[in-house]
Parts: sequence; structure tokens; C-alpha cells
Amino acid sequence: MSDMTPEQWRGLRVYRLADRPRRLAIVNRKGGSGKTTTAVQLAAAFAAWGARVRITDGDPQLASATYWLTPQRPAGSPTLLEVFLGDATLRDATAPTGVPGVRIVPSLDTLARVEAERPPGSDTLLAAEYDADQDDVDVEILDAAPSMGLVTVAMLAAATDLVIVIKTSTLDYVGAAELGRPLKLIRRRLNPDLSTTAVVMVDTDGQTALSRSLAARLKQEYPDAIVQPIPHSVRAREAPGQHQPLIDYAPDNPVTMAYWRLAAALVPRLGFAWKVGP
Ligand SMILES: Nc1ncnc2c1ncn2[C@@H]1O[C@H](COP(=O)(O)OP(=O)(O)O)[C@@H](O)[C@H]1O
Ligand SMILES: [Mg+2]
Repeated sequence: MSDMTPEQWRGLRVYRLADRPRRLAIVNRKGGSGKTTTAVQLAAAFAAWGARVRITDGDPQLASATYWLTPQRPAGSPTLLEVFLGDATLRDATAPTGVPGVRIVPSLDTLARVEAERPPGSDTLLAAEYDADQDDVDVEILDAAPSMGLVTVAMLAAATDLVIVIKTSTLDYVGAAELGRPLKLIRRRLNPDLSTTAVVMVDTDGQTALSRSLAARLKQEYPDAIVQPIPHSVRAREAPGQHQPLIDYAPDNPVTMAYWRLAAALVPRLGFAWKVGP
């Protein structure tokens, strides 16, 4: 799968073997690390392969998943905030996007009210909401905030799999290390089965000695995880403003190719298999 063309990548198909949708939380302790970029590309790749994907936007900032994917629904429709406040179900808050096969639970900057009001039961709310609305979803993608607020904790409690994103150009390796303690508590108290399934090294020239040694170190730290480098490109920075995933906006870009490879490596890990034949 190393020298496939964009058309060949897009032409692949998957089907779900797992009896429930897996829930992939994209995390890092620091902002600006490539979480949303990773969330949107994984969603677009799985949707291109025929899976029904839902993204939940837990970090409505600058180029958020909500901004990127422009939910198609009337202004004033419920968002993730209303789900936390008990005024809407996750299903009510789910909207189509411009990308076929990808739906979103959007968030606005009003999501901060969750941290201010601390609605009781928030820790386990999302797990229950995903359980209650899983019939037409194959993969849930949870785009978390960089801080360990209530929304992030609820996402980690609901997730089956973690994707840890590390921006290697600024070497914010500390960010992932800081995750250690809260994650230990999440696993002990809320979600014992949460597995670290992938570590994404964003903004990495995979050829340098530094990135190779970082990759080796991560492999040692997370022996069961896929470790995937993603190179740097200004095209990645432009894509949110064009409201297109990279597979559409920059299909030939090395960043896009790296995300196809990451998504492909996740296929068996998320309970899917490749369809062969027509
Ligand atoms: N591979 C990349 N090359 C260059 N810029 C990138 C890359 N991935 C992400 N970026 C940019 O870095 C910034 C932070 O990425 P983003 O995905 O929004 O991170 P987060 O969601 O963790 O805050 C954005 O401006 C984004 O466009
Ligand atoms: Mg983000």
C-alpha cells in the first residue's frame, strides 16, 4: 500500500465486522497539535471507504471541526452544549456535513458553559448517548480539547480507542507525557478498556534522525499502537478555510497520503475489513 495513487486509495471499500461502532478519541494535552486535522482526515477516509462516520466536536476553537465541515442545518439547532445541559439528545444534535458519509455533532464557543455550569453526570453522559444512538454509525470520532475539562473527560470515558497527536516540530512531547496521570485515573475509574491505538507525529520529516529516534521512543512507550508520521505542508493549514478534507483539497499531497496510510492501518484495529471484488 505504499505507492498507491489518490484514486486507488479512494476506490477502496470497507465493511464493519464489529457489532458496535468503535469510538476514537483524538487527544493531546496541548492545543495546536493537529488533532482536528487528524479527526477530519480520518473521518473523510473512512467515509470514502463506505463507512458511516460521526465526528463530535469537543473543541470549538479557530479551525474547529465545526468550522471545517460546516454542518448543514438551521441556525439555532442543538449543539454538543445542549446535549450536556440535558436539552437535546446526541441524535438531535447530529447534523449532515458537506462531506458525504460524515455527520457532525457541532460545537460553538458556548460549549465553555459546560465547564462553568458543570452539569451533574457529565462524566458518563457521552458514553450513554453514543450507546443510545449507534444504529446508523460505523465509527465515532471524538475531537477533544487540549485541556482535561468535563467534555474531554466525558470523551475519554466514552472512547474505545485513543489517537494521541504529537506535534514534533515544537517537540511538545511533554504534552503526551502529561496525559499519563489523568489517563490512568480515567482507565481505573471510568473506562478500563480504553486502548491507545495510534500515535500520530504531526509535522514530521520522517527521514531525519530526530524523528526516527522519536518514533522509536514512542514505539517503545506504546508497543501496541500504530506510530504514524505526518509531514508538514501549508496545504494542511489552508484546508479548513476551504471547508474540504485534504483528500479533496490536496489529494496528491504527502500529508494526504500519510493520512490514508494511518486510516488504512486503523481498519483492522477498529473492527473493519477490506471488501474485495465488486
Ligand atoms: N501536517 C501539517 N502541516 C502543516 N500544518 C499543519 C499540519 N497539521 C495541522 N497543521 C496546522 O496546525 C494548526 C493546528 O492544527 P489543528 O489540527 O487545528 O490542531 P488542534 O486541533 O490540535 O488544535 C492548524 O493551523 C493546522 O492547519
Ligand atoms: Mg482542534
